[in-house]
This record gives sequence, structure tokens and C-alpha cells, in this order.
Amino acid sequence: CGIVGYVGPRQSQAVLISGLSRLEYRGYDSAGIAVIDGDGGLGMRKRAGKLQVLRDDLAARPLADGTTGIGHTRWATHGGPTDGNAHPHLADDDKLAVIHNGIIENFSELKEELLAGGFTFRSETDTEVAAVLLGREYERTGDLVEAFRAVVTRLEGAFTLLAMHQDQPGLVVGARRNSPLVIGLGEGENFLGSDVAAFVEHTRNALAIGQDQIVAITPAGVEVTDFAGNAVEVEPFEVTWDAAAAEKGGWSSFMAKEVSEEPDAVANTLRGRIRDGQVVIPELDGLDELFAGISRIIVIACGTAAYAGQVGKYAIEQWTRIPVDVELAHEFRYRDPVIGPDTLVVSISQSGETMDTLMAVKYARERGAKTLSICNTQGATIPRESDAIVYTHAGPEVAVASTKAFVAQITALYLMGLHIGRIRGSVAAADAAEHVRELEAIPGKIAQILEREQPRIEQFASWMADTRSVLFLGRHVGYPIALEGALKLKELAYIHAEGFAAGELKHGPIALIEPGQPVFVIVPSPRKSAEMHKKVISSIEEIRARGARVIAIAEEGDAAVLPKADEVLRIPLADPFFEPLLAVVPLHIFAMGLATAKGLDVDQPRNLAKSVTVE
Ligand code: G6P
Repeated sequence: CGIVGYVGPRQSQAVLISGLSRLEYRGYDSAGIAVIDGDGGLGMRKRAGKLQVLRDDLAARPLADGTTGIGHTRWATHGGPTDGNAHPHLADDDKLAVIHNGIIENFSELKEELLAGGFTFRSETDTEVAAVLLGREYERTGDLVEAFRAVVTRLEGAFTLLAMHQDQPGLVVGARRNSPLVIGLGEGENFLGSDVAAFVEHTRNALAIGQDQIVAITPAGVEVTDFAGNAVEVEPFEVTWDAAAAEKGGWSSFMAKEVSEEPDAVANTLRGRIRDGQVVIPELDGLDELFAGISRIIVIACGTAAYAGQVGKYAIEQWTRIPVDVELAHEFRYRDPVIGPDTLVVSISQSGETMDTLMAVKYARERGAKTLSICNTQGATIPRESDAIVYTHAGPEVAVASTKAFVAQITALYLMGLHIGRIRGSVAAADAAEHVRELEAIPGKIAQILEREQPRIEQFASWMADTRSVLFLGRHVGYPIALEGALKLKELAYIHAEGFAAGELKHGPIALIEPGQPVFVIVPSPRKSAEMHKKVISSIEEIRARGARVIAIAEEGDAAVLPKADEVLRIPLADPFFEPLLAVVPLHIFAMGLATAKGLDVDQPRNLAKSVTVE
């Protein structure tokens, strides 16, 4: 869910709504705001549906404005997406408003207790339980911060809670446990947000709030304490994102813009990390001993980020000679993995907030492993919980399904592999320099694909708008790319799609092939991977013989593929390890093109949220 809070001299509704529109990617099944108006009354409006429904409602039936407010955009967990279940939730005779992100795991016990005490409820949400508890404590103490202190220690699970009370205008109080919250520092005004996107248009000065802390913001300042009320130090940081980067500009969708930024995502992730042809990541200074002492790497992530991990594994193993396993974060944690001080657990997360990944990182740390976070969002929770951070510099990614962050994550993994390889002496300087040259050429090559192939791929995708099933085949580093191609198509176009290792075809999936079945095949370079190229061409023959319609993604100049494929999408020549950074681009364009042709919203696919902050 997305959360925003404001105190200051301005009328808050516009600030809240524009903050929410930047956070809408975090959830968009309902939205609401509450404002303490000029007369000290508390007004609230909330609606099921996308933010636009709320905007229209406010335009048709204006709500009295005021300078203290909170806003929320929801991704339903407890209780369906209805007006009533939308946030804010009210308590204390509708004088106190609360918004929440996360899941309060013990909410039914608390609700029983409150029901027995004569309190009543208007929604099915766990949030309303927190609101009623806060209301009860406010009545007792007459102070919102104290009420928070009494309530948060009774809550189990994950939460970011924000609240305000009409009797204390100019004050918004928040608390967080296992769920994100950052402060934006303005002049005579302050902001709270689930991430910096909530306030980046107003200020770039931010403070990250730690685990189990309470924050109170007023126009004059901010105060952060732990749950017991002791003052704590908070880390200031400057947001480097450009506010305009989080805007759609002239693009038809955020995703169209973000795919067009794939060359920059790679280039910006490389920037400042190459010195004299060698990879030196300044953020990893002083950690040589850590990297020298590891004997195993486990990459953990979810969704697209996990596929980036699978791509990275091949090169990292090659360059560091350290065994690399890639595992879904939510699976890793529940199987008692063999890890210890010589294990480096590398987490990959665009948002840095994915709860499954966060919990796996914490678990790894508790078990003594070293942790490194590859993350795209400054001040996010996962990097804060890790021993080392390598930021991807893809810029803000707003469309729910990940595109430019994916290529940036692969780039960061390659940088990490070369950095560790240099420290351990497992990659020769000359080889490393060659890899660096290859990497530096990737942005230009991606730009070439966008320029030459995008219109053709989009047209081709629109012809396939009625397709009900698509298969993707790849080998070696092409295999995770096949998985990513299939995932994107499921996410964006709601089409059944599956990715397979090409070699596995004959062991089962080939039974799926019937006349007309579209199959994308990622074809390795005939010049750089002659052996594998031959094998993949054989796989194409096998499916062609059974009537498949083959769409090949192949290197420019690969003539062998022409007579075998119904369609060939061309990518420039690259060394095998770097080819995934190119091969994925046509697949992103294809999924986006097909979904657009079906009239679907590519930025906000049904049922998904960009950062899943619940387990
Ligand atoms: C969600 C998104 C995916 C994303 C995954 C991991 O499921 O819909 O697009 O790949 O989370 O997100 P993260 O922020 O951890 O990279």
C-alpha cells in the first residue's frame, strides 16, 4: 500500500493526491484521504477503485480543506476492495483517522477484546482494530504519541501506521515495524511517505526511520523515538532521483517510458564503478576481507529480480569460482538452509521492501551469513538490514511489472562478480578489462534494438492479440530470459505463458506443441557459442516438425536461423554472458505491445502490486 502524510502551511489535499498518484503503483484497488479542516473538524473521503475514482468524487463533492492530512492507496489483504474497507479508518467518535500498510497478525484476538469491551466496527480490516485501539488510548491519555506507544507494542506482524486527531491539528504520528516509512524534510512543512516518491516533488531531504520506531511530524520539526519513548538518531539522506523522472512525460505509459530507459539503466549502474578498465565499486570499499572469506554465494529474490539472479549466476561463478545458488526468498527461509559466516547472501530487490525478501535477509543474518543488497530504492528497508549495498541506478520504476530495473540488476550482479573476482584474483585483469568493454557497449546495443526493432515487434504483438498460450525456450543464460519473457506476458497480457530450458523440451514440454503453437526461442550466438547454437537449432527443428510457430530472437547475421523460424527478431552481437541484457528487450516490448493491443493497463495489471510488503 502507499502512504502519505503532510503538515505545513499548504492546503493538504493537493499534496496528498499528488503524493498518492506517485505511490499508486504500490496498490490501486482503493484510495482515501483524511484532512483536519480549518475549523478543527476531521473530514474523510475514500473510494474503491483506482485513484481517479477518488479524484472524481472530490471534484464532484469537495471536502473542506486543511493543512494536516493523511492519504492511502490500498492493495487489499484483509477484506475485499470496497469503499468501507478502504483507508482511512476512524475512531474516537470519528475524531481520529488511521491509515495502515502491512498485516496485523493478531488482529482477531484484539478485535474480540474490543468487541467484548463494547466497541463496534464498520469494516472487516485489521486496520480498524488499530484505529479503535488508538482511539481508546487517546481517550485515556489525551496525547497521540503516547497513545501510539501504548498500542504498537500490542500489535504483531508488519505495519506502517499513520494517524492524526482533530484535537491535535498540525501533528501526524507514524510508526513502523517491518514495513516502510520515510520522512521528507521541508521548510516549515514535513512529509511522511512509504517511499520518497511520496514527496520527491517537494523536497529531496529525507530521513529513513528505523525498525520499531515512532515519528511525530509538525510544521516545525520531527521527533523520532523507539517504542519505549527514547529518542533515537536517524540517518539523513539526499534523494538523487529527479522528480520529473517519476512522471510519465509524453509517454503512453510508465512502462513504455521505462523500457525506453533500459539503455540508461545499464549505463547509470555502471557509472563511477569502473577505474582503469577494472571494476571498483566504491560502496564496497573496506570489505575485501569479507569477500575473500566467503566460500558460497546464495542469491535470494522474488519475481523478476529472481530471474536477474539466475542470469547473474553463470558469470559470477565463472569469475569468482565461488558456487552460486539462486533461490526464491520465500522458499529459502523455510527449509533450514546450510549457511554460516562463509556464506554471502545477495538479495536483489527493486523496491527494497518486498517482505518475503526482507524476511529472508534477516533470517540469513541471524544465522551468521554476510548479506549484500542489490537495490534500486534509496533508504529502503532491505539495504538498511544488509552488511553491504550495491545500488542499481535505474531511476524510479513506476509500472508494476519490472523492466528497466531488471537490466540494471543484471548489470549490478556482473559488477559485483568482477569486483569479487578482482579481490580474489580469480579473474585475470586482461579478461576483466574485456568484460568491462563488453558491458560498456551494452547500452548502445539496447538502444539499437529499441530503434530498429521496436515498431516491428509491436506490430507483430498486435497481430497476436488473440493468442491464448505462448511458450519460451532458452538455454544457459537464455533460460532465465525465457522465464522472464513468460512472466512478463502473464503479468501484462494475462496470457498463459511458460518458459523452458531448451534441452528439457524433449523430456516433457514438447507434448504441449501442436500446430500453430507460438514458441519464442532465444538463440545463442553462432560465433561465440557455436556448440550451443547448434543444440538450440535442433530444438527449433523438433518443435517445427510438430507444427510450432517459431519466433526466434537471434543475433544479427545469424543466417542459419532464417529458414527455420517464422519470425526473427534481431539483436546485436554480444559475448554470451551479456547477451541476456539484449535478448530480454524484445520480450519486454512484445509483452507490453500485446497487452496494449488487448486494451489492458500495462502499468497497473490486475491483482498485482509493485512492492508486496506482506508475506
Ligand atoms: C512484485 C512485482 C514484480 C517484482 C517482484 C519483486 O511481485 O509485481 O514485478 O519483480 O515484486 O519486487 P522487488 O521490488 O523485490 O524487486
